[in-house]
Amino acid sequence: MKDLQRQRVFDLLQKDCSPLLGQEVNVKGWVRTRRGNKNVAFIALNDGSVIHNIQVVVDVQGFDNDELLRQITTGACISVNGLLVESQGKGQRVEIQAREVIVYGGADPEKYPLQKKGHTLEFLREIAHLRPRTNTFGAILRLRHALSFAIHKYFNDNGFYYLHTPIITGSDAEGAGAMFRVTTLDMKDVPVKKDGSVDYSQDFFGKETNLTVSGQLEGELGALALSNIYTFGPTFRAENSNTSRHLAEFWMIEPEMAFCDIHGNMDLAEEFLKYLVSYILENCADDLEFLQKQYDDGLIGRLQHVKENKFRRLSYTEAVEILEQSGKKFEYPVKWGVDLQSEHERYLVEQHFNKPVILTDYPKDIKAFYMKQNDDGKTVRAMDVLFPKIGEIIGGSQREEDYDKLHKRIEEMGIHQEDVWWYLETRKFGTAPHSGFGLGFERLMLFVSGMGNIRDVIPFPRTPQNAEF
Ligand code: 4AD
Ligand code: MG
Repeated sequence: MKDLQRQRVFDLLQKDCSPLLGQEVNVKGWVRTRRGNKNVAFIALNDGSVIHNIQVVVDVQGFDNDELLRQITTGACISVNGLLVESQGKGQRVEIQAREVIVYGGADPEKYPLQKKGHTLEFLREIAHLRPRTNTFGAILRLRHALSFAIHKYFNDNGFYYLHTPIITGSDAEGAGAMFRVTTLDMKDVPVKKDGSVDYSQDFFGKETNLTVSGQLEGELGALALSNIYTFGPTFRAENSNTSRHLAEFWMIEPEMAFCDIHGNMDLAEEFLKYLVSYILENCADDLEFLQKQYDDGLIGRLQHVKENKFRRLSYTEAVEILEQSGKKFEYPVKWGVDLQSEHERYLVEQHFNKPVILTDYPKDIKAFYMKQNDDGKTVRAMDVLFPKIGEIIGGSQREEDYDKLHKRIEEMGIHQEDVWWYLETRKFGTAPHSGFGLGFERLMLFVSGMGNIRDVIPFPRTPQNAEF
């Protein structure tokens, strides 16, 4: 086969691919469909660079290798040399008239699971090793990439430094959720101390360690040196919550800013989310249109709505009053002091205000120890951003920078000093007002993709009883 440089389907379908028109090009990819008859075969070829396929036309009679042609079935991987020409048929501007074809790998039509279109998302979860080859997951994976890139770009353009916080952690101070233990101890012969508890001094790190639930505490150490930092990494929570919005392994973005109060924190959250939504609208139009058509006809409108409307900011206390007066019967009743459920959050966003909402000043007893205490003695300077269809997408706060207040709260909540001595020292040496938040990457992916289940916006979801792939 003639050695030609591979062209991405994305580039061949660009409006300005004309320099290549009339020339021989090479494409490689996976066969989505094959139609045709004895004389001519039409192959829809996809290489994942874009949602669209390129049409490859094969003159069957003119091809002497029948065995090779038989292997070109749905799912097969092929390389094609051929002439790029304007298409006679409708549905595509250009197509390739094949001259030479190589089959890298066939896909037995009796066995390849992705024969037809229209598989359910549930079925696709069972074949997570192959689902990247579907239009839906191609679109999702490209969106994940674009969103990740935009996140780094936003922070880089705005003077934030990317801080790599550890994945294995020796403290469980955050209390954000149950943790996964990390150990090299022999499970069949665990060393125990005299009092019967596990002797972690014999473990790899000489102490009990877990996978992190958040990079925040280390993020604060970075902010109290570099002023503005962000983290973007995997986080792990071992809750047994089988919902459409929870994963056991998910990615979180956590900016942390010195010299910033809760208002600056809210300003950043709003500007950042609007930037990301705008970026996706501008750069992922094809994938968004596909997802809108396939799954959610309100998708693009909803993205535009978020981009164009000022988020409504109000206190937890005001929100509870609205919920109590709504006359709506919620599955979980509301009263001051309870943690809000997504049904409450979505009522506020979708029915009452019809725009994203930022709630502040939550009761201190339902929030983490590090949040700045308000003078009322009852609430803390927390802020949650609530989104349509999602509920909570961001959780954050201004941090308590006063050593004595923070120390007292740590004692009240029964947190072990030896776990957080290093965190406390930042308040002893050069403390500063500071704030930050955590954005759940997959929650944002749910919002920008219109998908209904968080298992369908991450390549390999980790949920209870599920770590096959
Ligand atoms: O509200 P959370 O628990 O906040 C923190 O972890 C803070 N340390 C963040 C900070 O201030 N730096 O989690 C932050 C966000 C949530 O708003 C949600 O979007 C997402 O992380 N999240 C989850 N996403 C998927 N699956 C889960 N199990 C999630 N738990 C939280
Ligand atoms: Mg939260």
